[in-house]
Amino acid sequence: MEAMKLENPFLTRGYAGPEYFCDREVETKQLVSAITNGRDVTLVAPRRYGKTGLVHNAFRFLGKDHATVYLDIFAMDDLASFVQAFSSAVLGTLDSATERVGRKLLSFFRSCRPKMTPQEDGTFAFSFDIAPSQAKATLKETFDYIASRNRKVVIAIDEFQQVRFFPEKGVEALLRSYIQFVPNAHFIFAGSKKHMMDEMFVSPKGPFYQSTQLMALGPIDAAAYAAFAEGFFRKAGRAFDGSAFRHLYDRFDGITWYVQAVLNRVWANGLGLDSPERADAAVDDLVAESGAFFIDLLRSQTAAEQSLIRAIGREGVVAAISSGDFIRRHRLPAASTIRSAAAKLKERDLIYRTDDGYVIYDRLFGVWLGRL
Ligand SMILES: Nc1ncnc2c1ncn2[C@@H]1O[C@H](COP(=O)(O)OP(=O)(O)O)[C@@H](O)[C@H]1O
Ligand SMILES: [Mg+2]
Repeated sequence: MEAMKLENPFLTRGYAGPEYFCDREVETKQLVSAITNGRDVTLVAPRRYGKTGLVHNAFRFLGKDHATVYLDIFAMDDLASFVQAFSSAVLGTLDSATERVGRKLLSFFRSCRPKMTPQEDGTFAFSFDIAPSQAKATLKETFDYIASRNRKVVIAIDEFQQVRFFPEKGVEALLRSYIQFVPNAHFIFAGSKKHMMDEMFVSPKGPFYQSTQLMALGPIDAAAYAAFAEGFFRKAGRAFDGSAFRHLYDRFDGITWYVQAVLNRVWANGLGLDSPERADAAVDDLVAESGAFFIDLLRSQTAAEQSLIRAIGREGVVAAISSGDFIRRHRLPAASTIRSAAAKLKERDLIYRTDDGYVIYDRLFGVWLGRL
């Protein structure tokens, strides 16, 4: 892949090749090795740690002898929209869409009629129109189609826990039953809701129990991250102070997106990372820009939820959320109310439970709340 030179080397979304991708060497090797050796992988980490980036980085290596399919299902809300996207992504990737192949392909799909649209380069683009009542049939046909190709394929389904919100029950069991019989396809299931991913992949009752290799993604190593960042600053003749970087890294527990977002700002301002205050100023800018959004976010919660959010924001980390101490300190409602508010906020990804206790999930929201 020929990398394009970027104006700003610190991405805040997407993947732009290895030059702009820091470390993750061990994780990339693990992922590549699992897939090449025929094991499906479950990749779990909270949002913003770098799951999606890692999948794309692994695809660079896997792409040599696999067709690669990436699908983010975060915004999908039923089986039909999933199948629509899944089948289109698979069909778009698995074949060079010549008309000959196209005719053969059409024979697989009796539940729907894939449309073939001729492209300028002589190939055909496929599009599906799935009848919701036929979604299961189309999914089955798509797997039959994959199995019929003598090409290895790796399919990453990102934010996979979303299937649990589909009104159709047992989508994951259905998928599992098809996947078992498609030896040339391997899967990466990435997800950011640990308890939901655990229920599917780790629990003995889950449909994917012991069927995938489990990978948890932690933060990027601090020294490797510092070296990565320093390389760009030095090459551009800008200052870089290791302890300023460390300050930034620690402030956000090394979580990739926040580190990237701050470096992106410092860079955009034409500056070097020359002091901890420089990093903090960029954090302030980011927080200020989201202020209006944060106010709305806070106000759209119930009164009890709001007071709990504010209390956690004020303390940073709260070990015992329904303890008398914490409740008195912040004049919160009764412990039972707090517990159910916490459950709701957790489900909405507004708070998050770390080993040390509850924190505000979005760290910039946390900074903003801390200042109220
Ligand atoms: N190893 C990395 N080096 C540099 N930037 C990264 C790396 N991994 C992820 N990123 C960037 O960090 C941000 C968050 O990563 P992403 O993969 O989207 O996280 P997730 O999928 O876990 O929510 C994105 O802007 C992405 O470009
Ligand atoms: Mg992601």
